[in-house]
Amino acid sequence: MTKHIPVLLGDVMAALGDVRGMRIIDATFGAGGYTRAFLDAGADVTAFDRDPHVADDAAAVAKEYGARFTFIPRPFSAMADLTGEYDAIVFDLGISSMQIDIADRGFSFRADGPLDMRMSGNGDSAADLIANTDVAEMARILRDYGDIKKAPALARAIRDARPRTTMELRDLIYNPRDIAPVFQALRIAVNDEMGEVQRALAAVPKLLRVGGKCICVTFHSLEDRIVKNTFRAWTTAPGDPRMPVVAAAPFSAIAPKTPAAAELAQNPRARSAHMRGVIKSY
Ligand SMILES: C[S@@+](CC[C@H](N)C(=O)[O-])C[C@H]1O[C@@H](n2cnc3c(N)ncnc32)[C@H](O)[C@@H]1O
Repeated sequence: MTKHIPVLLGDVMAALGDVRGMRIIDATFGAGGYTRAFLDAGADVTAFDRDPHVADDAAAVAKEYGARFTFIPRPFSAMADLTGEYDAIVFDLGISSMQIDIADRGFSFRADGPLDMRMSGNGDSAADLIANTDVAEMARILRDYGDIKKAPALARAIRDARPRTTMELRDLIYNPRDIAPVFQALRIAVNDEMGEVQRALAAVPKLLRVGGKCICVTFHSLEDRIVKNTFRAWTTAPGDPRMPVVAAAPFSAIAPKTPAAAELAQNPRARSAHMRGVIKSY
């Protein structure tokens, strides 16, 4: 199985600066690439991941770093339940190489497997979603999360065939260019990916200390739009700009980044990545 290569890690570390003694939330532990880099640079880390498959990697990090590392095996929206202040909160969104590579998890359209796609292993699988969703809602999922042009016709074909495997689904998609977007759309719906990001970001302002940073790495335009719009709202001064005294914005922006050519040459999975960040001003 491919080991997950952390994406934009150098840029994330540069944006965070000197992290010695800091308390950092790694919202997306994955293979622990970011977490280990934060710990090695002297920070304490609280990490989330809802995928039970990461348990061994999390246990290895816990053994190595002791009390400086806390792992919470829950969706990252559960950070809303944390108390206390953190110096940084980092999201590396999307799925890991390990998730794509295990055919039985159903994320890949290149390998045959059950149509599952659940990161957490709980709740409805993609096959269940298809079986329990009406054509209009399936068309919305395909259009909103996959930008599929003929979404109603494809939704009807999917609903009628009720595929149970990745290849059965793939065979229903007549336009080859739609294959990856259809799989992406179902994955987003199965895992409520948009809702998770929105709920977690809503908790960020109260969890960060003044001067604390939130950094997000995204892998598709829907996620990136949520992050961009949320950060834009936070970095816009409240009140009426025509008034003589305008309050400062609660956050300032960190320069956005995309992977440099050298990173892309080494890791093609980085190609759609965008990093955005903000610093809490007051
Ligand atoms: C791109 S990988 C993170 C890789 C990690 N930064 C590293 O360097 O190894 C994304 C991880 O986030 C997890 N994840 C995605 N959405 C999540 C959510 N809403 N709650 C918790 N974990 C989530 C996935 O299970 C996956 O393991």
